[in-house]
Amino acid sequence: MSSENTMSLENPFNVFKHWFEKAQQHAHVKYPDAMNLATVSAAGQPSNRTVLLKHWDEAGFVFYTNLTSRKGGEISANGKVSVCFHWDAMDVQIRIEGVCAQVDDAQADIYFDSRPMQSRVGAWASKQSQPLASHAHLLKRVAKQSLKLPLGKMHRPDFWSGFRIVPHRIEFMQMKDYRLHERREFKLIDGHWVNGLLYP
Ligand SMILES: Cc1cc2nc3c(=O)[nH]c(=O)nc-3n(C[C@H](O)[C@H](O)[C@H](O)COP(=O)(O)O)c2cc1C
Repeated sequence: MSSENTMSLENPFNVFKHWFEKAQQHAHVKYPDAMNLATVSAAGQPSNRTVLLKHWDEAGFVFYTNLTSRKGGEISANGKVSVCFHWDAMDVQIRIEGVCAQVDDAQADIYFDSRPMQSRVGAWASKQSQPLASHAHLLKRVAKQSLKLPLGKMHRPDFWSGFRIVPHRIEFMQMKDYRLHERREFKLIDGHWVNGLLYP
């Protein structure tokens, strides 16, 4: 990438850190942590949706969701996923491919407990991806749920947790004039990251 002179290209995580911090500081990137997640059904049908990156390090990229949702079911049958960040205001795209592993319960508990109370209630009330008769029905479930547990005891539902995407391919693209974009691909081969440029 154009900033390659200022960062080590030995490992894609240095590059990710560089761009992610820029996105977080950018006045016109509203959701730097929003990533488009693609999963594949048993029939081979891909589907994608946005989720939020809640934690990342060299072990992988973590998001949280309802395990019984469409994506949750697809991941439990086939953990191979990809995510894509596009920071429009920066003309940057990052693509990550890898395999999901569920985070351990202790990590999921810590994150769940850090969420605002209404979000915790919502996690209990939503049968994510199931048919819903009306929005009013959802609000009724939220109200019922709020009465069920004292606020301090709103522990994590066992159907809600996080997945860590353990990457084996990460690609950074900086858009350039006339579609002559700079693409750098990192692939994990025999435990080592190797990188090179790709035609745009
Ligand atoms: C900006 C944004 C952030 C989102 N973050 C999450 C998230 O972190 N986890 C999640 O389960 N759904 C999140 N959603 C909702 C998902 O995009 C999706 O609608 C939902 O998870 C159901 O997807 P599924 O039926 O394919 O499982 C987010 C949506 C948007 C627009």
